[in-house]
Amino acid sequence: MKTTFAKDIPQSVKADALICFVAKFDKVTDKVLRSLDEATNGAVSKVLQTEEFSGKEGEMTTFYRPVGYRVGRVILLGLGEQDRVDADSFRRAMGRAGRYRPLTSASKAAISFASFEKPENFQAAVEGYLLGGYQMLEYKTGENARDDRRLDELIFISDNKAVVGRMEKAVSRGTVIAEGQMLVRKLAATPSNDLTPTLYAEKAKELAKQYGFDCRVLDEAAIKREKMGAFLSVTRGSAEPPRFIILTYKGGPENQKPIVLVGKGITFDSGGISLKPGANMHEMKQDMAGSAVVVGTVVTAARLGINRNIVGLVPTCENMPSGHATRPGDIIRSRKGKTVEIINTDAEGRLILADALDYANKFDPQAVIDIATLTGAALYILGYAGAPILGNNESLLDRIREASASTAERVWPLPIWDDQRDQMKSEIADLVNSGGRPAGTAAAAAFLENFIGEWPWAHIDIASVDLEPKGKPYIPKGASGFGVRLLTELLSNWKKL
Ligand code: BES
Ligand code: MN
Ligand code: ZN
Repeated sequence: MKTTFAKDIPQSVKADALICFVAKFDKVTDKVLRSLDEATNGAVSKVLQTEEFSGKEGEMTTFYRPVGYRVGRVILLGLGEQDRVDADSFRRAMGRAGRYRPLTSASKAAISFASFEKPENFQAAVEGYLLGGYQMLEYKTGENARDDRRLDELIFISDNKAVVGRMEKAVSRGTVIAEGQMLVRKLAATPSNDLTPTLYAEKAKELAKQYGFDCRVLDEAAIKREKMGAFLSVTRGSAEPPRFIILTYKGGPENQKPIVLVGKGITFDSGGISLKPGANMHEMKQDMAGSAVVVGTVVTAARLGINRNIVGLVPTCENMPSGHATRPGDIIRSRKGKTVEIINTDAEGRLILADALDYANKFDPQAVIDIATLTGAALYILGYAGAPILGNNESLLDRIREASASTAERVWPLPIWDDQRDQMKSEIADLVNSGGRPAGTAAAAAFLENFIGEWPWAHIDIASVDLEPKGKPYIPKGASGFGVRLLTELLSNWKKL
């Protein structure tokens, strides 16, 4: 679908459909709704007084052939309570519209924002439309592979020339960001047989070439030379060799310290010798979602030309049981030198992150953010609604929260207390990799904290938000791609900590 822009009014734009927004109990005061009301012989104001369509969140209605218009139909999308309307209202409304029959059957649609003309609304609208209509068709064949969306052009209109200019900027930004998020969805949903660590690294190289950043890959021998004993202990049981992917995007001046993003890239987590139960084990193909967010964010930063130096680190391997696999009770030595007693081979994410966090020191970072499907316990903190964040720097956590507010990718901070640090101490080694059930999410962060350097650090646990169980307005059931909007926003507005 292409997006175009025009200085135009709803009455004269030519398209199959025109999309307009209505807040709850809108009194038809703005001029777009008023003229539409006239063109429908008062039908708009009438329907707004009914239960059929009062502008409530989620409501949609269509008027055909309004008199004096050059569009075949006008689609009204409800935004909800007037005083609660924000950018995400547009993301949600357009997410639903992406699957609404009167719109999916159109090939050219126009969209007007009337009294809601703000850049963040334009950006959110295109994000919502693209994200809400996302389908993964790569593995479907024949009829099943048919894309049932028709829209090949969406025309953003405003009668104000300056606004049209702002629309163009905001919509192109929203398009790039939504595409970044959809890239993450696709990578995360790709099954482990088609996304082995080797294939993943090749894919990263392709993306780097396509979008103009650097990608270097360490193979198993190089990982051994780096003495990444924690990472290597996880990959041991698998027949697939591991990879360590290093992405470098230079958007800032040479002397600007980079922000390092680290992502968990377990392409399949069976649990290893501490094997997971069979039910839902297939979902563990997505245990590389955090790393996909790192890849997707670097791609997005490069496409937007963000003026920062960014490094992406992706340790990627499988966690499998076999005669070569690490056993519970084994003690391993991390790159940093700290020893870890393996209590549970299913607590593997923190091991690969430990070595990657230590490796981040090489880049003399100004801050490091890791993102990972790390603990099932995250679900019991904020449910499917948001991701816990933890770290060692209040202002960094505040920044992430601010980015969360404007992108509607919700996060909330959790503390790391000495109680959790104590949980991670071993009788025989420096650390255990599992501190048992209590405070699983904070305990995992307390483990990671042992491997960070002298820099601000934040950890985002996306285990409860990376896979949408039911479907939300702009997040179809399946891989959500959570994290790209959040990190892109954070990096776009980056200020020295
Ligand atoms: N990848 C899982 C966490 C996970 C679980 C993500 C469910 C998404 C959905 C992680 O490697 C894991 O297995 N964590 C264990 C840690 C425990 C053994 C300390 C967990 O959460 O049970
Ligand atoms: Mn695991
Ligand atoms: Zn895992």
